[in-house]
Amino acid sequence: MKISKICCIGAGYVGGPTMAVIAKMNPNIQVTIVDINEDRIAAWNDEDLSNLPIYEPGLAEIVKETRGKNLHFTTEINKAIDESEMIFISVNTPTKTYGKGKGMAADLKYVELCARNIAEVATTDKIVVEKSTLPVRTAKAIKSILHNTGSGVKFDILSNPEFLAEGTAIEDLLSPDRVLIGGESEEAIEALANIYGSWVSQDQILRTNVWSSELSKLTANAFLAQRISSINAISELCEKTEANVSEVAKAIGMDSRIGPKFLNASIGFGGSCFQKDILNLVYIARSYGLNEVADYWEQVITLNDHQKRRFSDNLISTLYNTVSGKKIAMLGWAFKKDTNDTRESAAIYVADHLLNEQANIAVYDPKVPSKKVYGDLDYLATRSEDENKELVETFDNPYDAIKDAHAVAIMTEWDEFKTYDWKKVYDLMKKPAFIFDGRNILNKDEMAEIGFEYSSIGK
Ligand code: NAD
Ligand code: UGA
Repeated sequence: MKISKICCIGAGYVGGPTMAVIAKMNPNIQVTIVDINEDRIAAWNDEDLSNLPIYEPGLAEIVKETRGKNLHFTTEINKAIDESEMIFISVNTPTKTYGKGKGMAADLKYVELCARNIAEVATTDKIVVEKSTLPVRTAKAIKSILHNTGSGVKFDILSNPEFLAEGTAIEDLLSPDRVLIGGESEEAIEALANIYGSWVSQDQILRTNVWSSELSKLTANAFLAQRISSINAISELCEKTEANVSEVAKAIGMDSRIGPKFLNASIGFGGSCFQKDILNLVYIARSYGLNEVADYWEQVITLNDHQKRRFSDNLISTLYNTVSGKKIAMLGWAFKKDTNDTRESAAIYVADHLLNEQANIAVYDPKVPSKKVYGDLDYLATRSEDENKELVETFDNPYDAIKDAHAVAIMTEWDEFKTYDWKKVYDLMKKPAFIFDGRNILNKDEMAEIGFEYSSIGK
């Protein structure tokens, strides 16, 4: 079965880049991305590519090449669904904030709405692809919604989880470690495998049953996050023992069974997925009565929360146990470099702890707009919007943010931070001048030479 028209519901961090790459690699397929968010679609259609809603290295170039040819962004959801043979569901699946499973389970209301939308408007057979990260056995619910329409339309459901990481999305999509497709219908699986086959070798396209595919996605994220919590647990022990966590990470990473990647100690992992997906896994395990399994994975989150809290506690105690009225310059607000995404960024929580101690926070991030910084703090609702406005200031220039600060806290590992004139930074700051390097990106000896009181994670 050859596909000529694809629709993707959800023009977010996954839908946008993934469909852009599919369109680039399959010039004969028309790809339409739809979203209920009109502003987001307008931004995707903006003439000025620096206004795209998502910042990812390499993304603007691909959008420039394909937009208006075989890549389209629109809010006309029903039309796009009806015209397509294959529909990807790539909407958000956040942690539930209400009712049963609040704070743990995935909120599947957006996914269900998509399934209902497809069921309502489809007049021809469709392959429906789960691209969103979903709890194992979600395909059963989607199938039940789609098959109870009475319209006689045939639906095949596939699970095709996405493994891209933000900041390297285009690279990850162009050369994936693997593509995973779970499903029942061989014909549907091969239709999707063909699309990826334009640029991914067939032996990297893994076919499984739908439940293995759904569960593999949550498991992959749980294993990745577990590595960070493991090295972060060791970072605290390093600080007590004069061991150096980077040296430990290097030494253990050279064991090929462990491997060198994903062992950077940090202020803790952020992002929209690790925490949400592990909480979801914990919830599923508990719902099957598997309490030991649930407790095991929950500890990954506990350690991550501890790491964020430890960072702010250390900052406060080093600044003579009070930050009240002191200016703390935070470099970076995004949850990692090369993205404008701030969801669950450690910076939000560290700022919140410091604001509870009446600190004045000055934020500089090369890609995150001021509106987002305030939005993130207001969303926590720890204090009023007015108080956040009063205590937090955002800057377009790092040196303005740093001027007269008592301390600099590095929250994100943006490359540009390494290139700053740190001598100039020192001169601009109050003395003694403190640096709290939450990403271990600066050189301890160089900073000490300049005169800084420098501390990092696990060293
Ligand atoms: P996102 O919030 O950036 O984008 C989701 C989009 O879906 C939003 O623009 C929203 O307006 C739209 N939407 C919601 N309901 C809709 C509906 N009924 N009709 C049309 N549009 C609708 O989310 P994201 O980061 O792209 O994540 C999407 C899914 O992919 C999640 O399940 C996530 O866990 C998973 N995932 C994310 C990443 C990542 O790095 N962000 C990586 C792999 C997997
Ligand atoms: C992660 C996974 O890496 C992707 O494979 C997955 O598809 C995605 O989640 C998802 O399901 O959404 P992402 O969250 O975008 O991707 O970014 P990561 O590179 O995994 O970083 C997550 C967090 O861990 C960041 O805050 C990062 O700074 C932190 N991190 C990462 C560390 O603290 N140390 C490391 O060694 C690596």
